[in-house]
Amino acid sequence: MSFVTVENLQKNYASTAVFSDINCVINQGEFVTLLGPSGCGKSTLLRCIAGLTSVTRGKIFLDGKNIVPVSPQKRGIGMVFQSYALFPNMNVEQNVAFGLRMQKVSADETRQRVAEVLKLVELNELAKRYPHQMSGGQCQRVALARSLVTRPRLLLLDEPLSALDARIRKHLREQIRAIQQELGLTTIFVTHDQEEALTMSDRIFLMNQGRIVQSGDAETLYTAPVDAFAAGFIGNYNLLEPDDASRLMQRPINSRVAIRPEAIQLSLTGALEGEVRSHSLLGNVIRYRVEARGVELVVDVLNRSAADLHPNGRRVTLNIEASALCEVA
Ligand SMILES: Nc1ncnc2c1ncn2[C@@H]1O[C@H](COP(=O)(O)OP(=O)(O)O)[C@@H](O)[C@H]1O
Ligand SMILES: [Mg+2]
Repeated sequence: MSFVTVENLQKNYASTAVFSDINCVINQGEFVTLLGPSGCGKSTLLRCIAGLTSVTRGKIFLDGKNIVPVSPQKRGIGMVFQSYALFPNMNVEQNVAFGLRMQKVSADETRQRVAEVLKLVELNELAKRYPHQMSGGQCQRVALARSLVTRPRLLLLDEPLSALDARIRKHLREQIRAIQQELGLTTIFVTHDQEEALTMSDRIFLMNQGRIVQSGDAETLYTAPVDAFAAGFIGNYNLLEPDDASRLMQRPINSRVAIRPEAIQLSLTGALEGEVRSHSLLGNVIRYRVEARGVELVVDVLNRSAADLHPNGRRVTLNIEASALCEVA
């Protein structure tokens, strides 16, 4: 059932439009990610939904009601930012209790709800710590707890993991997803990181230059990009112009095609010959640049053993299944 509906949303700064016609529907309990490059309008869209920035035109329905005229405090929306924005002079407990104090919730109930939510984010042991005594990951969990304690109808997360190191980021994204599912909380998550989007979301809205260019589940976005931008942004696709694609596949191809690097197989015998130009080790994957029929292709191969590595200059053959070619606009 539709829980959030954005209709013909436009946002201008002076005479410049960040976006002019955003439309999307989010279901109750869904975890949706706005994915796109820096500057495409993700934060602005989130801030319009939260009421932190005014809307030029259009409507935003939350649970059936247009919230554009409603003040941010009355929307029942929780928001977490990349910079945790904790109060430095308050300990964890006080930071988390702040929203409830504003709502004049009783001391007893506040104590109980704060304890509950600190347990949920696994911070009950650190309740008396101050922000400067904690790591970035712990601070971000406090910021999350501070939003959750108010029991929002909708949770907005604006790049909450971008400032954290890789290991903490992975752990925290699993934790956020688990909490979101446990609470059945409708959530809009913003990131520019495709891996984050692919692993966390029920659905992804891919944005570019103020437009949602594609929406769907991770599988769809990964395997069926709608255009060259989508193919370039998700999955490191090889993008080939029609004449390069035709020469490579030796049959007429009239549109641009995208081929995923892991959909190309390398072997030592076969019809399509190429030469390894370079390789780099990405941990469990070896990423080759292979030239074949005048086309340079990125090819990803699972790094099984050092003996399998093709050195630069090695003649190899490529195997590209017809189904690996994805026509894009
Ligand atoms: N307060 C503002 N005044 C003028 N332009 C802004 C303001 N905030 C954002 N913008 C512009 O709107 C566009 C989208 O910004 P933003 O929503 O922050 O992108 P993202 O979060 O996707 O990186 C950018 O071109 C940015 O410069
Ligand atoms: Mg942003």
